[in-house]
Amino acid sequence: MQEKEHDLVVIGGGPGGYVAAIRAAQLGMDVACVDENPALGGTCLRVGCIPSKALLESSYRLHAAEHTFASQGIQVGDISLDLNKMLEHKDGIVKTLTGGIKSLLKKNKVAVYQGRGKLTGANHVEVTGATEAKLTAKNILLATGSTPTIFPSIEVDYDKIGTSTTALSYPEVPKKLVVIGAGVIGLELGSVWSRLGSEVILLEAADRLLPMVDAEISRLAQRTFEKQGLKFQFGTFVESAKVEGDGCVVYLKEGEPITADRVLLSVGRAPCTKNLGLEELGVELDNHGFVQVDPNYQSSLPGLYAIGDCIGGAMLAHKASEEGIACVEKIAGQHAEVHYDKIPSVIYTHPEIAWVGQTEEELKEAGIAYRKGACPFGAIGRARSMGDIDGKVKILADEKTDRILGVHIMGANAGELIAEAVAAMQFGASSEDIAKTCHAHPTLAEAMLEAALAVDKRAIHC
Ligand code: NAI
Repeated sequence: MQEKEHDLVVIGGGPGGYVAAIRAAQLGMDVACVDENPALGGTCLRVGCIPSKALLESSYRLHAAEHTFASQGIQVGDISLDLNKMLEHKDGIVKTLTGGIKSLLKKNKVAVYQGRGKLTGANHVEVTGATEAKLTAKNILLATGSTPTIFPSIEVDYDKIGTSTTALSYPEVPKKLVVIGAGVIGLELGSVWSRLGSEVILLEAADRLLPMVDAEISRLAQRTFEKQGLKFQFGTFVESAKVEGDGCVVYLKEGEPITADRVLLSVGRAPCTKNLGLEELGVELDNHGFVQVDPNYQSSLPGLYAIGDCIGGAMLAHKASEEGIACVEKIAGQHAEVHYDKIPSVIYTHPEIAWVGQTEEELKEAGIAYRKGACPFGAIGRARSMGDIDGKVKILADEKTDRILGVHIMGANAGELIAEAVAAMQFGASSEDIAKTCHAHPTLAEAMLEAALAVDKRAIHC
């Protein structure tokens, strides 16, 4: 077994860990990154953000070819799905990108140890698996991410009843897919299989779609998704599910059981903090297993830091990356800060849903007086020419100072459009600042301009 000393050992090669490792190397540290998976990039690249976006993109194109091409004068004859090819295309993207991370780490001289990392002492990590090594480091950073929450009463066989990972590779289009939890994963993967031809039923315990999203946008989204064919059952708590014969049966707290060809369990994610030696070393975890950290991301064990999904908060790749960078910059003695109130969220349905800052409900609850301006995409020439008129941009600004407090978008490319709002809020902009910024015509971004003008009741096009 090799023994090696580094300045920093990062456990986990996802968007939190590999980004932190590269930034630490840029800052002059001798860095190691430990990951048991030969493909670096974590959940995001292997079985999360990237493969799901590949399938969302492909399934959207198929759907458009089947349903909208003809209305634009495009005749393409018989259209059929080659699911194997679509899955291969997705896997190819994952392979290219995970290979890219490997090259980036090499370029930055980060030593990669393929194996499972476990803390054996305050400054010691043992790697087992493909590589066997004993590593010593002044600082250790946990970026071990999260894994799908599994209820024991739901008999997951990772085939008929599976998680998001299973739903990225169904070998055939299920006739009927039941999704437990109409959250971010449920909506994205539910959309994929619905576009490919499944009947998709989403069972949701809450009484409305996406409780964290601005209520007006979430109502708009629900109507749009229902028009697309997704079926929602709200206030429906799933108690158990099992494979029976060739299919599955889902049992509800109230109401008749529901049968399905396949079941996707997407009821949240839990931190990966077990079997890392944390309990043995007395590292403080909360009741859900999240590592407790101070503002420098240091755990209760000096020299042990943690970032990303394993410390809780928004389970987003970009939040983990931001924390990873801030953490190692702080270790290097620099000033660094993550602006948690300005982290954007995006749901990659069609249309996309994106937001940053506070919702109307949060502002009302906090007693903050605000003005709002909105612009529907139907009023925007570019959206009309794309045939993408569903949704709107809504800007919420402080009544007295006009400072932007929240921006909520449902619409095509909302995930790209939100970047302007995030940058504006980062610079402390007012809605007037956006209103006075020249936006190119014709673009979807004009909806942002019009919504900003609408805050002051002087929109031109809506
Ligand atoms: P989620 O937290 O978004 O949604 C889970 C849903 O399941 C909730 O609405 C909850 O009310 C419901 N639920 C829980 N137990 C239930 C039960 N027994 N019966 C019926 N409904 C039940 O979790 P999800 O979709 O699994 O995503 C996990 C994490 O991954 C989230 O934090 C999400 O933000 C992140 N993610 C982010 C993406 C993005 O940024 N585009 C994409 C995919 C995941």
